Amino acid sequence: MDQARKLVGTARRILILTGAGVSAESGVPTFRGSDGLWRKHRPEQLATPQAFQSDPRLVWEWYGWRRELVGACRPNAAHAAIASLTLANEDARLVTQNVDGLHELALEEAAAQGPSPGMSIDRAAPIRLHGSLFRTRCTGCNDRTSDRHPVDAQSENSLPKCRKCAALLRPDVVWFGEALDPDILRNSMQAAERADVCLVVGTSALVHPAASLPLLTKQSGGVVVEVNTEPTPLTEIAALSIRGQAGQILPDLLGVEPGR
Ligand code: APR
Repeated sequence: MDQARKLVGTARRILILTGAGVSAESGVPTFRGSDGLWRKHRPEQLATPQAFQSDPRLVWEWYGWRRELVGACRPNAAHAAIASLTLANEDARLVTQNVDGLHELALEEAAAQGPSPGMSIDRAAPIRLHGSLFRTRCTGCNDRTSDRHPVDAQSENSLPKCRKCAALLRPDVVWFGEALDPDILRNSMQAAERADVCLVVGTSALVHPAASLPLLTKQSGGVVVEVNTEPTPLTEIAALSIRGQAGQILPDLLGVEPGR
């Protein structure tokens, strides 16, 4: 832990890559853990464009359920520690695979606790690789909108419709088989190449291109530090891999008082 604290503490540029594990202590189910969503549901039935094409009601019912579940969750100490770091250090970037919005909530809470010099919420905002549960995209005109409303998925008629062109809306998330937004991908790859340290927190590192970002840091001469309750495919390339829960490790690792 001392080594990791030193590596992170002395790094000029830090990339933090997070996955579902960072939200596990907030009560958000992971995807592949023992209580994982993909243990109970089949991703090909719920998280692909084909699934939405064949049964938009079923897909919306599931995203409505996730919105409600996640809507009741609060950021934990790991989210708070990352928010404090990205607000205080303009060379710290957060890239997340999570669509739960808890990093954004933690950022608002940290910023509300008083300004620090050079602080900019916009600059500290996470790069969201896979979209957000609380945004929709129009299948007709591609209009994107924030939306935290409960979803009425009783029938196809009741599903959310575009306020501009009345076409069916879909969750603004990246589904399996879909490409990431090219600007978002480019920005996250640049952050990975520029980083001295890539801190990887709570991801099984099985989904690409997210899982290849730490490799980019390593290939560009930086080091990878991993925090996870279990080993992952990244453990072998990590300079340090710390076993434990993110909410317990990150405040100490990032030098942030718990609850601050
Ligand atoms: N602290 C740290 N790590 C944890 C914790 C915790 N409290 N709880 C679980 N983990 C770890 C697990 O050991 C696992 O390695 O978090 C990881 C979660 O892995 P996944 O469930 O596979 O989630 P993730 O890696 O984010 O999935 C990537 O896959 O399903 C798609 O689009 C979805 O963004 C998601 C992507």
